[in-house]
Amino acid sequence: MNKLAWEGEELVELYSASSIQERVAALGATLTATYGTDPVVCIGVLKGAAIFCSDLIRCMQIPKLEVDFVRLSSYGTNSSSSGNVKIAASSLATTSKKHVLIVEDIVDTGKSMQTFMQQFVAKDALSVRLAVLIDKRERRSCEVKIDYSCFVCDSGFCVGYGLDYAERYRHLPAIYELKFLNN
Ligand code: IMP
Ligand code: MG
Repeated sequence: MNKLAWEGEELVELYSASSIQERVAALGATLTATYGTDPVVCIGVLKGAAIFCSDLIRCMQIPKLEVDFVRLSSYGTNSSSSGNVKIAASSLATTSKKHVLIVEDIVDTGKSMQTFMQQFVAKDALSVRLAVLIDKRERRSCEVKIDYSCFVCDSGFCVGYGLDYAERYRHLPAIYELKFLNN
């Protein structure tokens, strides 16, 4: 049993801290090669992607990079998405003549990202791409075009490296599957 777990819960390691760092660095290198000297705006989706986005931008060796964050409201303390996504008002960076890279923690049913992408207006952007830490496929019910993913998994509730369950476990450097004991 993992000593970082709360009572009644168990954490089973899925991706070690070093394997995450490796994948994030590899994605950073791909993005560096893709964007070159073009202007890019990275938009991290709070709160889940805060850690992933912070690490990823430091692996992107490009001169013209701006960073912003959005907060979507829909997800409570449950383990499935309501799909009722609203983009919190924010002073988003301008996107005209820039590439936009949305950075998200995990795509599960796809409802959140599908709705976000429909509402998100990237005026005159050169491109809009989506990078996700985990592409979790089993419950996908909406089509979402994921341009880059660090990990692909089928099922299970993932926590750590920004991902939470009821606000717990975001601070863990590795990613775990959360199991509930006695049920
Ligand atoms: P979707 O709308 O079902 O694709 O859910 C996407 C959102 O639900 C993600 O941005 C996460 O905030 C949350 N979520 C889905 N699966 C997990 C998980 O395994 N761990 C933590 N959060 C999750
Ligand atoms: Mg999220």
